[in-house]
Amino acid sequence: MKLENLGASAAKVITGRTALVVTDEHVGALYIERATVSLEKAGFSVFTFTIKPGEASKNADNYLALLNHMAEIPLTRTDCAVALGGGVVGDLTGFAAATYLRGIPVIQVPTSLLAMVDSAVGGKTAINLEAGKNLAGAFHMPALVLWDVSLLDTLPEAQFQDGMGEIIKYGVLSDAELFGNLKNPAWTKENLEFLVKRCVEIKESFVEQDRFDRGERQKLNLGHTIGHAIERASDFTVSHGCAVALGMLKIAEVATKNGWCEAKIVPELREILNVYGFSTQMPWDMPTLCAIMRADKKRKGDEIDLVIPERIGSCVLKRLSLKELEQILCEA
Ligand code: GLY
Repeated sequence: MKLENLGASAAKVITGRTALVVTDEHVGALYIERATVSLEKAGFSVFTFTIKPGEASKNADNYLALLNHMAEIPLTRTDCAVALGGGVVGDLTGFAAATYLRGIPVIQVPTSLLAMVDSAVGGKTAINLEAGKNLAGAFHMPALVLWDVSLLDTLPEAQFQDGMGEIIKYGVLSDAELFGNLKNPAWTKENLEFLVKRCVEIKESFVEQDRFDRGERQKLNLGHTIGHAIERASDFTVSHGCAVALGMLKIAEVATKNGWCEAKIVPELREILNVYGFSTQMPWDMPTLCAIMRADKKRKGDEIDLVIPERIGSCVLKRLSLKELEQILCEA
């Protein structure tokens, strides 16, 4: 759907007529005008709140400033917040919308590939705390997600690759045909609209079964346990998509070594990661990553649910103690 349809689509799901558009300086310079015009044409009074681009903006200070801005306007329970941007804007806006007046509607307008296929879908919202990423948050389903792949025309190549890490994950997780098509990067570029739609469909199917992330939805974390540890070990200089790519490869190697999956999964993954320019060299030793994984927020006491690929297109959850996890990672 085009960004120009934002106002008309919002008017169908929002009963109030005040909208606060939250964006960052980069995305705002490119798209806030089009978003505002569309909302105003549909009868909305539009306010804006702009943050600095980057993960550091997903902090408690910006969260409080955003809540105060909502209260000053004031937004009421029938109005809405609109997140126009990537994952940082989406998560921050979503969390503020989840908690302001105990919850007002949020519309997600993702502008990065990663946000289109992942963070804008499924209602997870959060900010970072000193102790780690996404440690304060809420589940708050968007009233509407509007993704317009033409907004990706301005996306830097590195951010495109970042999104590809998650897209490859969807193939490994539940769509072998998609995985096969992704081997051809020309197909990917020509079928972006279909690709985003398919990934959103896959994500929604997991979210529908388990909205609050207690079972099936956890499979969406394929490659993330190791991936998050890599992100932290690198002080977030390794992007999320690159870290997830490496995490998937490592867990496939572990699964192969333990006889939990088809052996061809590792060469297939290496091949596709090479196609999209991902490094397949693990730059950190496992004891370092295991120490970080001990602080993983998805840990359940001394246990952690690991997503294991059985074959391309199918994964299972396996509950391991932290000790077992360390053992299998260090042996592989
Ligand atoms: N990004 C994983 C989830 O939304 O559950």
